[in-house]
Amino acid sequence: MAFNLAYDGNSYPIEEEVSVLDTLLNQGIDIPHSCKSGVCQSCLVEVVVGEPTEASQVGLKATFKARNYALSCCLFAKEDLGIRPLNSEDAEVTASIIKVEALNHNVLRLCLKPEEEFDTIPGQYINLITPDNIVRSYSIANIPGVDGYIELHIRVIPNGRLGSWLLNEAKPWGSVKLRGPAGECFYVSDKEGGDDFPMVLAGTSTGLAPLYGIIKDALAHGHIGEIALFHGALQPEDLYLVDELYDLSQQQSNFSYTPCVLNGSEGDFYICGDVQQLVVEHIAKLKEARLYLCGAPDLVNAMKKKAFLSGVASKHIYYDAFLPSK
Ligand SMILES: Cc1cc2nc3c(=O)[nH]c(=O)nc-3n(C[C@H](O)[C@H](O)[C@H](O)COP(=O)(O)OP(=O)(O)OC[C@H]3O[C@@H](n4cnc5c(N)ncnc54)[C@H](O)[C@@H]3O)c2cc1C
Ligand code: FES
Repeated sequence: MAFNLAYDGNSYPIEEEVSVLDTLLNQGIDIPHSCKSGVCQSCLVEVVVGEPTEASQVGLKATFKARNYALSCCLFAKEDLGIRPLNSEDAEVTASIIKVEALNHNVLRLCLKPEEEFDTIPGQYINLITPDNIVRSYSIANIPGVDGYIELHIRVIPNGRLGSWLLNEAKPWGSVKLRGPAGECFYVSDKEGGDDFPMVLAGTSTGLAPLYGIIKDALAHGHIGEIALFHGALQPEDLYLVDELYDLSQQQSNFSYTPCVLNGSEGDFYICGDVQQLVVEHIAKLKEARLYLCGAPDLVNAMKKKAFLSGVASKHIYYDAFLPSK
């Protein structure tokens, strides 16, 4: 059965099994989007005729739900619908670029200062919106409330749209828009002053970004249990922040750092091997561990399964898969 979809003064037929996003893209209308899987939130629209379905609002913050915002990739018509782009005044804040610098051969650190209040929790992700309306999700690698800025680690993918903008156009004191935050992968304290549950954090490439934010947050909360970070890479040059993380492991007796390289000869600052194997072996030695997994979707999904089979309760597995654009 087909319904009507109103957008920007026009009406389009919409099939029940085709999402609002795909219906508009099929008409040649450029709606910002990325994962098409209900995760990144880059495809948000406001529903002005009809009602957003429950599935199209999963993971949205309460204020967005109240404004009838919906994820257009998860919105399927059960009645006639009308949508419009978000009112950026309500949904977005402007931020100034205060630093862009290389962390290794393909990862850039981007520091942003929001011009108004923008509450976030380290480890959550935000939508970064460029002046030409490319929208992508990035995870928070610091404690913005303490530092006064938001730090992101962005892997530059050849021909990637946002990566190319960052390399060629982003300049200090230029501005971008931010939306969010979203995500449930962050440190949760069970009690005031000094939780003792063991934490194991594993990721590849820029999966380090949210993990580093979570580690800083746990230490700031006075976490006294062990905190073990495993950072996996294909080759040694893909690792980054190695000195900083080694220094932290010297300063904090409960923090350990294991950089791990799949294709490399044994080096003096990393282990050669499969990060998944190392993590599984480590978890087996722990009781009641909480596991944080971020980065490549394959790694996150495989590790979730292995950790569960190794006895980690699913409520204690926190994760964010960095789904690519489709
Ligand atoms: C919840 C969430 C959090 C994220 N956090 C981070 C983060 O902290 N740091 C970070 O660097 N990225 C993060 N990402 C990924 C990020 O949002 C972008 O997808 C990524 O930066 C690529 O954007 P782009 O515009 O440069 O490339 P695009 O223009 O989107 O991609 C160009 C082409 O490359 C393909 N592609 C994109 N990514 C990959 C990949 N990883 N492997 C293989 N092919 C790919 C695309 O499918 C497309 O064909 C996150 C994603 C999600 C969903
Ligand atoms: S949530 Fe819709 S494109 Fe990512």
